[in-house]
Amino acid sequence: MEPSPLKNTALNDMKIIKDPRQMQEYALARRVEGKTIALVPTMGYLHQGHVSLMEHARPAADLVIVSIFVNPLQFGPREDLDVYPRDFEGDCRTCEQAGVDVIFAPQMSDIYPPEFQTEVSVSEVTRGLCGAHRPGHFNGVTTVVAKLFNLALPHKAFFGEKDYQQLVTIKRMVEDLNFPIEIIGVPIVREDDGLAMSSRNAYLSPAEREAALSLSHGLFRARELFEQGEKRSPILQQAVREAIREHAGQSCQLEYLAICDPDSLEEIEQVEKQAVIALAARVGKTRLIDNTLLSRESS
Ligand code: PAF
Repeated sequence: MEPSPLKNTALNDMKIIKDPRQMQEYALARRVEGKTIALVPTMGYLHQGHVSLMEHARPAADLVIVSIFVNPLQFGPREDLDVYPRDFEGDCRTCEQAGVDVIFAPQMSDIYPPEFQTEVSVSEVTRGLCGAHRPGHFNGVTTVVAKLFNLALPHKAFFGEKDYQQLVTIKRMVEDLNFPIEIIGVPIVREDDGLAMSSRNAYLSPAEREAALSLSHGLFRARELFEQGEKRSPILQQAVREAIREHAGQSCQLEYLAICDPDSLEEIEQVEKQAVIALAARVGKTRLIDNTLLSRESS
């Protein structure tokens, strides 16, 4: 069957499902009818990065489901769960305009009832990078994503490459646990000036936003050097650090900066063909992440 084209708000008859059991029954019924399902898991406060996930999902399946759930399990005790930005009405409009068929927006207590006691844990690819700085974070992500997969029953699921370690972790989980789901990574969407789109950008003051630009500028400078033939990770990393210092001074504090194998996420000293250069930084109180791929083939 031909996948449905991008739909228009007025023509669209988007459903909002809150009850997990109803979500599962609905997805199962559509599968019995022979329909294919694409899932875009989100925590809401949707921006162009999420819209790009929906745009990739729309032609890839008969039905597009967007889940909106701020997952407490992936936030640390001192993180921003309580203040995480939310705008359900705005999110509904965004989904409708992107031709989404179903929003799945469960309640916290329906996803994690008091007796809940199971966790999904991926051991190796979660060790470094964000995993080293956010204990428990990826167990929270894999646990909720496994549940969303069991409820929305997608054939394909779409994740942004901005959360590169999350994407690798979910691919590993899907392989290891034999989920019959294709995981599709979607390129980072950036503002015109290079800042990677993120719901957390909403926390930034104008001065902080300016400082935050140093992150993508640093990554781009390293990529340029790599394209000119530089292979040594310490030199590439130095270029990122210098760009951040020049542009943002002390306003931008790196939490980590690493050059890794794009599949195993192990750090590498020398980039032969491909690597991901990834960082996390604090700009004021806001923690931001960004990355870029270094690839000989594309250079
Ligand atoms: O990337 C996100 O927004 C979240 O980590 C996800 C995948 C929706 C799980 O809560």
